[in-house]
Amino acid sequence: MKDAPAIPEILTAVAPMAVDRGVERAASFIIAGDLVAIPTETVYGLAADATNDRAVAKIFEAKGRPSFNPLIVHVADLDMARRYADFPPLAEKLARAFWPGPLTLVLPRKKDCGLSLLVSAGLETVALRAPKSPIARQIIDKSGRPLAAPSANRSGSISPTQAEHVRDSLGRRVRLIFDGGACSVGIESTIIKVDGDRAVLLRPGGLPRADIERIVGMPLEAPAAASIEAPGMLSSHYAPNARLRLNAAAPEKDEAYLGFGAMASDGDAALNLSAAGDLVEAAANLFAHLRSLDAICAENNLSGIAAAPVPMQGLGEAINDRLKRAAAPRL
Ligand code: TXA
Ligand code: MG
Repeated sequence: MKDAPAIPEILTAVAPMAVDRGVERAASFIIAGDLVAIPTETVYGLAADATNDRAVAKIFEAKGRPSFNPLIVHVADLDMARRYADFPPLAEKLARAFWPGPLTLVLPRKKDCGLSLLVSAGLETVALRAPKSPIARQIIDKSGRPLAAPSANRSGSISPTQAEHVRDSLGRRVRLIFDGGACSVGIESTIIKVDGDRAVLLRPGGLPRADIERIVGMPLEAPAAASIEAPGMLSSHYAPNARLRLNAAAPEKDEAYLGFGAMASDGDAALNLSAAGDLVEAAANLFAHLRSLDAICAENNLSGIAAAPVPMQGLGEAINDRLKRAAAPRL
């Protein structure tokens, strides 16, 4: 791995620090153009001032992203979002229904809106989300800046749902890691592109399709086959090191097991996403369990991870999407 510690100074988890002081510190780093890892309800984000080109560029450097993929810009609310994008009535309806929360809207970007061009990676659109996590919201308020923030992990690896995942993955590449505990949703936001009165599902995520379709009043559209809107849509992504085998009723002898619901086999190399078969609990556990099983495979020389089938209802769509990517042949 290529290591280029861009930002040598580091101040890790500030859990013991009063939240107010932590927020103040994080906000001052953001204003100074530094990177701060922040908790959101979905996954930890690697945040920078979205109006500062250099700061946004540091995100790509820290993540080791192969190219300039567009980034989600985090805002406090709909009012703030309107500064950066045009909101057709359908987008406004969705924002009112689901913000703050795990929904990202891809919308036509306003000219001269002050956002770095890098956050849109050359597209005429911008992805916006108002996160629910109080810490993320306070940092946006305190800094007065919109925050560009992809998941706080090196490119292609598993998204972080705990502060220590961020430290393990990014370490000295980030100025401050704000420890807000485990993320309650645990899976990235659902991304919807709103184009006039059409709603296209670019990425399934923490907000189930059915909830959105109830507001839209019709089925979400699939993206046009040729468009690579979200790199999360590309083959190998969210990948553990260990090989992943899907829809496995049970593990082979030399496999670790990621279970769901009633589990025939348990033991040291088996973890359950949700013994009760609860898809919300399963989403919250997904990335942390993949990390743990990956480590167990390495320590015990196991051949890979077998994953139980997960039903396609509700958050099951996003869970299966991430599992499929994690199992895809590596690039
Ligand atoms: O829950 C989340 O969404 C987390 C937290 C931190 O908010 N963020 C996250 O960011 O997952 P990231 O960068 O890992 O994924 C953002 C996705 C990418 O697949 C990107 O291509 C897509 O959003 N995206 C961003 N702007 C876009 C745009 N203008 N058009 C299409 N896709 C866009
Ligand atoms: Mg990511």
